[in-house]
Amino acid sequence: MSTAQPSVSPPANLLSPAERKQQLIRDIKALKKERNAVILAHLYERIEVQDVADYHGDSLGLSQLAASTDAEVIVFCGVHFMAETAKLLSPAKTVYLANPNAGCPMADMITREELVQFKAENPGLPVVAYVNTAADVKAEADYCCTSANAVEVVAFAAKETGSNRILFVPDKHLGAYVQSQLPQVELICWEGFCPTHLRMNPDDVIKLKKEYPDAEILVHPECDQPMKDMADFIGSTTAIVKRAKESKARTFIVCTEDGVSQRLSQDCPEKLFFTPTRASAVCPNMKLTRLENIYKSLLGQNEEITIPEEVAEKARHCIDSMMRVAGSKGGPVMAGKHG
Ligand code: 13P
Ligand code: SF4
Repeated sequence: MSTAQPSVSPPANLLSPAERKQQLIRDIKALKKERNAVILAHLYERIEVQDVADYHGDSLGLSQLAASTDAEVIVFCGVHFMAETAKLLSPAKTVYLANPNAGCPMADMITREELVQFKAENPGLPVVAYVNTAADVKAEADYCCTSANAVEVVAFAAKETGSNRILFVPDKHLGAYVQSQLPQVELICWEGFCPTHLRMNPDDVIKLKKEYPDAEILVHPECDQPMKDMADFIGSTTAIVKRAKESKARTFIVCTEDGVSQRLSQDCPEKLFFTPTRASAVCPNMKLTRLENIYKSLLGQNEEITIPEEVAEKARHCIDSMMRVAGSKGGPVMAGKHG
């Protein structure tokens, strides 16, 4: 692991908290240049983390960026499977998960052994794994998808393999959404779910809608059916951002992690954004990353992401299958870029 030297800053005890934060941001930017690093942040991250990142976006957009960047170092502000995906796509680069403790409870709901068993119970069926899975689970799957392209990937998998029955892991709610869009294919779904998206409550949407009857309801497919039934629009994180920016509506009820409403409030100050069940609609893992974690990664003080080659080779094949699907390769679905 390489260890960079911190740049020289005024003594921290002479600075106010706001000045310390500005100093830290300057230090991050200087060190980033020194190490030829790129900082990628998911839209569920804290706003100050998104703002210091070179790019913020959804899982698909960030994967595409990780695959195409010519930086030598990637600092991923997100959860573990995202940094692993970046490493799979850019094996020669040094990849850090900014906060190594940030995991994804949904990804942890299926292990490699459980998937092997699921396949044995359903012999010969192709497996589509949501990107929210560990690398060794991807290694046992045939295709990978994100919430932005799950419908296209499942349709592609069915066509390419000639099977109209597909195993889908681990998110049963994303699986249910794909099923509603592809009635000709039968999805056999694992029983996983996102605890954050499931904490959103339809009663809170109804209350907001009474107060703002013209509000558009935007729902992430990880939400359950009662939430989806209320939706004017269902889409991935970036699709929600795009829809909110392009819509003529002035008010939005944004049914996904609270970071998205915060991003939108900052980017579109003329519009109003509400997250239902706001205090609960927070992914505690995504909020673990702070500016200090990014700085520490750039100093080389975090463990690099490593994946055993025999796992990486098979998992890469699964991710490559997603990149082959039309629409996944085309223009990145990025929500933003900072200088
Ligand atoms: P997307 O970035 O694909 O919208 O996924 C949401 C999510 O839960 C990431 O963990
Ligand atoms: Fe995992 Fe849900 Fe958090 Fe995304 S929002 S990282 S799916 S727990």
